Amino acid sequence: MSYRTLLSADQGAVRTLTINRPDKLNALNREVIAELSVAFGQAAQDDAVRVVVLTGAGPKAFVAGADIGEMAALDPVELRDFSRRGQALMRSIERLGKPVIAALNGFALGGGFELAMAAHLRLAADNARIGQPEVKLGLIPGFGGTQRLPRLAGRAAALELCLAGEPIDAQRAHQLGLVNQVLPAADLMAGAMALATRLAALAPQALRGVIDAVVLGADMATDQGLDYETQLFAVLASTADMREGTQAFMDKRAPVFGGR
Ligand code: COA
Repeated sequence: MSYRTLLSADQGAVRTLTINRPDKLNALNREVIAELSVAFGQAAQDDAVRVVVLTGAGPKAFVAGADIGEMAALDPVELRDFSRRGQALMRSIERLGKPVIAALNGFALGGGFELAMAAHLRLAADNARIGQPEVKLGLIPGFGGTQRLPRLAGRAAALELCLAGEPIDAQRAHQLGLVNQVLPAADLMAGAMALATRLAALAPQALRGVIDAVVLGADMATDQGLDYETQLFAVLASTADMREGTQAFMDKRAPVFGGR
């Protein structure tokens, strides 16, 4: 499938989606959001895809936010719809059931960082700038930032970023737990691919189990979350991949996971 605002490329079981509006610093307009929704839906359906890497085209930006020019022309009802569509996209990424790695190759601002927060892992180039500057436009984050940011980094950091609206550098984002790793800009994509390739060799159902337990479990009471973990654990114990993983360990060989 071809897109107007995205590039899609497969390398083994890793699909790389690149938001491709570099002249607008990959800002998220309605078309990008619609195409990302289709692209992630397809990645979810395709068993050959085990990991998705998400990045932005060009040397300057992952995504510099929602498209301000487009937003400025929307009426309140259209803006509400825009927020809901963005939120639905972010939730579908978070619930994809396969690891999504965001490679932050520059500005990750506003809706761009909200998109990155919906991914399961974030790698940042050392020159990345990260923030929620919506307040400077008279707005608040509208794609889930007010909910995911405090869950990731705590209330104090979330309020600092959203109230002051000042971007932070990749090192500070790492200290706050907002990104998993900081890499030299020139090494970012190689680092993201290496991590994605490692994950793609693991048992897909176990990866799904981790994502479901952590993402859904975060919204449960502890006892309920522990019970959910046990149920997922028990289901995984009946998979062919669990038998393969344990047998390979005993045979002192690398496992080959078929996804069943
Ligand atoms: N929406 C729409 N267009 C955007 C955009 C956004 N969020 N961010 C950047 N662009 C566009 C600029 O308007 C410019 O387009 P033009 O060449 O047609 O004028 C182009 O991308 C390049 O951006 P520019 O501002 O010239 O680059 P810069 O290096 O001087 O500054 C930023 C980079 C990221 C600091 C600046 O673009 C910026 O502040 N962007 C908005 C960030 C923001 O508020 N995001 C949250 C939105 S809710």
